Formats: sequence, C-alpha cells, structure tokens
Amino acid sequence: MKIQGIEFEELAEQFGTPLYVYDGDLLTDTITGLRRALHPAIEVFYSLKANPNISVFNTLRLGGARAEVSSLVELRTVLMAGTAPSDIVFLGPGKSERELVACLETGVYAIVVESFDELDDIERLAQERGVRQHVVLRINPTCAISGSRLTMGGKPRQFGIDEAQVLAAGDLSAKYRYAEVGGIQVYMGTRILDAEVVGKNTRYILDLAERVAEATGMPLDTVDIGGGLGVAYFEGEDDLDAVDVATEINPLLDKFHSAHPDTRLIMESGRFLTGRAGVYVIGVRYVKESMGERFAIADGGTHHHMAAVGIGSFVKRNFPAVLLSRRAEEATDLGESQPWNVTGPLCTPNDSILKNAQLPALLPGDLVGIQRSGAYGPSASPGLFLSHGFPAEVLVSGGQAHLVRSRDEPEDLLRHQHLHQPSTSTNQSIPTYQGSES
Ligand SMILES: Cc1ncc(COP(=O)(O)O)c(C=O)c1O
Repeated sequence: MKIQGIEFEELAEQFGTPLYVYDGDLLTDTITGLRRALHPAIEVFYSLKANPNISVFNTLRLGGARAEVSSLVELRTVLMAGTAPSDIVFLGPGKSERELVACLETGVYAIVVESFDELDDIERLAQERGVRQHVVLRINPTCAISGSRLTMGGKPRQFGIDEAQVLAAGDLSAKYRYAEVGGIQVYMGTRILDAEVVGKNTRYILDLAERVAEATGMPLDTVDIGGGLGVAYFEGEDDLDAVDVATEINPLLDKFHSAHPDTRLIMESGRFLTGRAGVYVIGVRYVKESMGERFAIADGGTHHHMAAVGIGSFVKRNFPAVLLSRRAEEATDLGESQPWNVTGPLCTPNDSILKNAQLPALLPGDLVGIQRSGAYGPSASPGLFLSHGFPAEVLVSGGQAHLVRSRDEPEDLLRHQHLHQPSTSTNQSIPTYQGSES
C-alpha cells in the first residue's frame, strides 16, 4: 500500500518500525474543509493534546487553525511554529505557576480558568507583573447531553466551575482588575459522532453564555463552545460530516453573532482534525499459535498506541487495520483472511493491538498498519513501559516524506537516569549466602 505514491515499505526501510506516518495533505483537507463548512464567525482552535507534533500542528496552522494548549511544552511548540499569541488559549485544570507566568509573559489571548483559586492566582501574578490578562471561565454545565463517548460535564468534575456557582458569583469583572474576566468555555465531551448532539451542545452553551453575562454583568468577549467532534473507529460507526455539523450549528452561531458581533467565537478540535490522518506502522517479528489462536508478535504495541486497547469499552474493539506490505518473496500469495491477534513486545497480556482481526496470513517481516491513529497515539500512551521509548514520526506532504520526530534511542532515555552508588559501608551490611550447614 502507498501513501501519496510512496510505498509504506519504503518508509519502513528509511525510518524503521514501529513508526507513525501522518498524511499532511489529509490534515490540510480536514482543517480547510471544516473551516469552509462552519460559519465564518467561528475560529477553530486545534487541541494539541490530540497530537502535539510540531509539524502536524504547523500543517493545521497553515490551514487556518489556531492553538489550544495545556502545558508549557505545548505552548512553546505553537510559539516555535509561529503562532501569534492572540491565537492561543491555555486550558487545563491544574496549571502550574510556571505555566501561568508563561501565559502572562507570552500574552496569550486567553487563559481558560478552571477554579476560583486559579482566578485568584492569575490576579496576583498579573498584578505583580503589572499586566492585564484576558480570562475565560470554564463552566461545568448542569446538564450533560448524551451522545459523546466520554462525558466531561454535568456531574461532579475537576474541570471548570459549576454552572450554579458561576451564576451566583456576582460581578467578577468588578472583583478582578488584572484578570479580565470576559467569557465562557464549555467542553461537553469527546468522540461525538452525531451532528445533532453538537447542535444541542452549542445551543446550550450559547444560551448559557447569555445567562452568565446577565447574571454576573461579565462582558462576553469570548465564547468557546468546546467541540468534541469524533471520528469513526469501530464497526457500526460512521464519520461525522463537517457539513452536517455546520447545518446544525451555523444558524445558532449566526443568531448569536448578530446579537454579539464583538464576541470571539471559538471551537476546539483535536481528534477530528488529526485522527484519520495517522497510521501506526508495525512490523511483524514472529508468528505462532497458542491454544488454537494465531498470534503475530510485532515490534510496536500499546506503549505507543494505548487507545488501541479499546477506548471506553470493556470489550476489546479493533481499530481498522490492514496489511501494508508483504515480504517481497511472498508478495503474490496473500491467502485467505483469518482471525489474528496482533500483539506488541510488552510483557503484559494487555499489549494487544488487534484481537481476532481479519487479516491475510501474516508472516515475519510483514507491515501492519493501524489506521485512524493520528490522534491520542504516542502522547496518550505509556511510552516508557519496558523503557522502549517513543517511535519516530513521519509526515508525508506533497508526495515527500519528512521525519518530524526522531525515534527515542537508548541514550536519550538513559540520559535522564542518575546512578546512585550506595556507600561501601552499606554494601558491607548486606548479608551474603554462606551455604547450608548440613
Ligand atoms: C477541554 C478540552 N478541549 C479539547 C479537547 C480535545 O477534544 P477532541 O480531541 O475530542 O476534539 C479535550 C479532550 O479531552 C478537552 O478536554
């Protein structure tokens, strides 16, 4: 199989496996398609948590995406890629003082505040520096709208401030002088595959924004409607269509925009923008049978792709997977599809990338591709398990392959370890085996 005319086998030879391969043209098509479909008043902020690779982000940035970041490194990543501070929001429930100071020094467009304590901290830090910082309140909504695969609101949560508390908070913009409170953010959940659910969420959030403004007197500089747009992974699921989403939310946005022309409207999106564009490429090392089941043991596993274990479900469901290339000498005979367990190199039965997946008879040297793996791959996986480290990442754009992350080498990982030698006296106190008396 090929990507933009390049054989996966060629990529594996050049960069080794396991390997993440991203389709830059698809990234561009996805962001431009979404932006074209949505009302012009709404800006799409890419959530780097989905895939923090700087070149993946840069591709989306060039397609018009802004940046939603949640750590110092994500902030530095988007700045390195050339993002204007006015196009950055910083979000996350437990920001460190270092991160908050970096936001103030950068002058990010908004810090999305998740607690009143955090708001106090920003006020203090901004006052100390004599700067003013735009702040948006993340609200934990009273209602949870069903339809997302992982609900983030509507119950007791560490995220945001409860809707009722915000509505009762009084005039926050009068209380805080350096933290300029002016807007709300709500993130209802992730993996939404039903455009109507996105519509219902958006309606609730826009209405809530007006209720908050009325109850607190807060100016509505910003309304961030979250997002959570999904991609289909499993059998029976269908992709969410950007045009269907637009059909649901554009009339709502239009009405809100007419009433509040100066309010900046934001949608956050991670998975939808990158999910389809990534393939995790693994090489089969050994094949064997165990108690009637076939196993292909590969060089990559769940330490790079934890999501493949099965997202939010007790039953293992497989990501879509294909045989990308066959050993040259066997190229003509793919044989019948058979159920295969494809596992990785980790010493845990959970290291199961595919369970009973229908694939042609696998052989050592074959390349298997786990598709739709561009979101929540390495960055959401225990890459240090068994000290394997993270794989290389390649971006293919305009028919050319570019290494956009080097593979972790043993030296990279060992560099962080510090050998502590116990003193000689401690050594001597360890009893040694003297042999049995009989
Ligand atoms: C607050 C917030 N914004 C954005 C995202 C990105 O979500 P998605 O990748 O579903 O678009 C998340 C994911 O958990 C999130 O928690």
